[in-house]
Amino acid sequence: MDVRMRVNRWTPARREMLNGHALSSGLIQGHFVVDGQGIDEPIPSLPGIHRQSVDVLRQRIAADVKMGLVGHMLFPVHPQEAKDSDGRLGLDGDGPMLRALRVLREDHGETVVLMADVCMCTVTDHGHCGHVVDGAIVNDETVATLAQMAVLAAQAGADYVGASDMMDGRVGAIRAALEDDGHHSTGVLSYAVKYASAFYGPFRDAAGSSPRTGDRRSHQMDPRASVNEAVMEAQLDEAEGADLLMVKPALAYLDVVAAVHAATRRPLAVYNVSGEYAMVHAQHPNVDERKGVVEEIMHAFHRAGASVIVTYHAREIFEQGWLGVQA
Ligand code: PBG
Repeated sequence: MDVRMRVNRWTPARREMLNGHALSSGLIQGHFVVDGQGIDEPIPSLPGIHRQSVDVLRQRIAADVKMGLVGHMLFPVHPQEAKDSDGRLGLDGDGPMLRALRVLREDHGETVVLMADVCMCTVTDHGHCGHVVDGAIVNDETVATLAQMAVLAAQAGADYVGASDMMDGRVGAIRAALEDDGHHSTGVLSYAVKYASAFYGPFRDAAGSSPRTGDRRSHQMDPRASVNEAVMEAQLDEAEGADLLMVKPALAYLDVVAAVHAATRRPLAVYNVSGEYAMVHAQHPNVDERKGVVEEIMHAFHRAGASVIVTYHAREIFEQGWLGVQA
């Protein structure tokens, strides 16, 4: 089956994320998960965000859920020396992200929405989002590996797998692989419109995922490209069965968000990326002075058509009671 309309209705938490009255219902907090024990390492370029081992992350998310922050997106982080050119770590069932998904699902059942990143850039030694053959990032071999990674994330309990790579045809391949393995209720969050942006710097520091040579321009969209190309990307993923469509980055692309919203029928997400977050923190290092800009930015995303907002600000919004969040 190509499209599973029930994915977005499967749990009360998913329905609330997509249809809740409050803007804050759609907020998703990003996390960086590492191997080890007791690790809680601040990321200098992402103030307030830490790389955490599963035990620490578990406590952190338990506190988030108590505040009402139930949407979480996980990214695995591995030491450079453990990676290889084929990204075999991505298929290791004991990797930190998969272990985190299992314990979080056990701790919180269906009261949380868990999203798992599925991309090769965090597991390859060259830092590219796919297999590299003769210097080129090859599409179809990469898609086959991504589909296997997605199945592992579904088995570990993800609500949605986040396809963040921008290979052609991966949404359909992931949907088919999920179906083959019996995961009819696991959704695909497609990074449908992802630009080769200069706003990802702090994330790449955090995840150690910068390409060692070259860049991502052969697969991510050109920031100068027309809005029509963005709409086409989103429509292709919609046709392949994406359950959520995402535009990334968010702030500099609100025209794209509005156009994709108008041209597609799936719920729309934005990724308020690391460089956008770091800019706001640079302007207002003091939390009490950040409220105005953070709220204004979230309203802008919502107004442009996003119902789901992936943002490193999610936790502070809940902690501070911004956007009308009740403590
Ligand atoms: C790649 C990926 C990237 C981000 C999330 N997943 C960026 C990239 O290196 O292309 C960036 C997110 C952020 O900047 O917060 N799979």
